[in-house]
Formats: sequence, C-alpha cells, structure tokens
Amino acid sequence: MSKVLNAKFFNEFIDMVDLCCSLGWNERNGGNMSYRIATEDIEAIKDEFTFEKPWTSIGVTVANLANEYFLVTGSGKYFRYTKAEPEKSVCIAQLDEKGENYRIVWGLVEGGRPTSEFPTHLLNHSVKFDITGGKHRLVMHVHPVNTIALTFVLPQNDKDFTREIWDMMPECAVVFPRGIGILPLMLTGSIDIAKATAEKFKEYDVVVWSMHGIFSSGENFRDVFGIIETVEKAAEILVKVISMGGKKVRPTAQEIIDVCEEYNLDINKSLL
Ligand code: 13P
Ligand code: ZN
Repeated sequence: MSKVLNAKFFNEFIDMVDLCCSLGWNERNGGNMSYRIATEDIEAIKDEFTFEKPWTSIGVTVANLANEYFLVTGSGKYFRYTKAEPEKSVCIAQLDEKGENYRIVWGLVEGGRPTSEFPTHLLNHSVKFDITGGKHRLVMHVHPVNTIALTFVLPQNDKDFTREIWDMMPECAVVFPRGIGILPLMLTGSIDIAKATAEKFKEYDVVVWSMHGIFSSGENFRDVFGIIETVEKAAEILVKVISMGGKKVRPTAQEIIDVCEEYNLDINKSLL
C-alpha cells in the first residue's frame, strides 16, 4: 500500500477537498489548496518520489521556501473526483534551492500541472512563513456563494467589508480579529493577483477576491476551514438581512472590542 496515500496529512487534505466540494464551495475545478509538508512526513514517503520531471518556473521567487515540498491540487482537476482519484487529481511539488522553480515528484499520473493559482499560493505561504515562524502550512481557495454575492453589493474596501461581516456574529471578530482584506476583480492565475494577495496576507489571514472567492491561510486544516466557514456563515446571514430590507440594529464598535478583550485577542481597531 502506498505510503503517500496512507499518510495522515494526505488524507486530511483529500478529506478537506471533499468536504469543501460537498458544501458547494468548489464547483467543477473551482478553488484550489496547497499544504507545505513537514520534513518528517517527507522523510516517511520520499522513496515513492521520482525526480525525473523537468523544473518549471513558478513565476515568482519564494526564497524562504527553497527546497520545501507542497501537496497541491491540479489545475483543471475536479474537486468532486479527487477522493476517488487522488493520484490523478493532486501532486506533490518540490521547490528548487532558489525558490524559483518547481518539479512534480508524485501524482498527476495522467499529466497536468499544479493549480493555475500556484504563484498566489506560494507567495502567501512565503509571507506567512516569515510572519508565523513557519507555523502556517495550509492555503485554501474556495468559491462560496454568499461571500461572492456580497462582493457585488458591499463597498470594496477592507474596513467596510470586514465590519459588515463582523457585525453578523460575535464569533466573527473572535475567529478573524485582524479582519478581512478585499481585492477588486483581477485576472485569475496572474502574477499581479499573486502579488496583490500576498500584500494583503501581510495583515490578514483571510482575503476575499471580489466576484471570485476567498483565500485563507493557517496552521492546519481545522483552523483554515474554521475561518472560511465562519466568513461564509456570516455572509449568508448578511445576504438574508439585506434581502429582508437591511439592518435595523447593529453591534457598536465597543461591543465588538469587548468580545475580543474577553478572549484576549488583538482586534484590528483600524477596521472599526
Ligand atoms: P485551477 O483549476 O487552475 O486550480 O483554477 C481554479 C480556480 O479557482 C482559479 O481561481
Ligand atoms: Zn478561483
């Protein structure tokens, strides 16, 4: 039995792909996921790797991620079939010693390449690697309905977008006290969107791409899923509130601060 297919991190990754798909966050090949694999996990599975595939330019330089290995979804591969066909749907990619190129060492057995958003994933990993001292390992991108719908009607700036979401449930400020970054519609898969997203990730753990979806980063599957499901739940409430004619009441800034102080959290007061 394959060591890769049996590895705990691998199964958590595949289960997360499957769960996101079942929630309607990942139609067809929409969305993508990447996980920076721990050294001890690589040592346990490395003899199943092949190092014959050519190096390919990432398009950005991520020097602090040199030689790291990432489990990543394949471009154009359907989330719905990933659990049934993992070797065809995902791959493990190794970065070179400069953090400029990658090569596939496992997976995508019928061909293909990592997600078209790999530059964004890797730049986000790079930013968070430095900020968290290597604690963040997972970057997820999904297309959840309510969050996307709101980007058509809410003001497109971090402060107003965050506050509208924070207002919906006290848990929101607790789960993402630094807030949400929002970017305008940009070309998907481009180096420009990668750089703009990474800039936002210097401040936030969750970034919304207007008219497109969400990116989030965190230490593990539980944390990142938790952030995204909280954003999307709040977005669903807000869609209903707007549909019923809009807010008649809202929490004050002080009430949001009080909840965070109760949990000793560093609330981003510049967004209140
Ligand atoms: P990929 O199939 O290349 O991962 O693209 C899906 C997507 O959501 C682009 O933003
Ligand atoms: Zn997308």
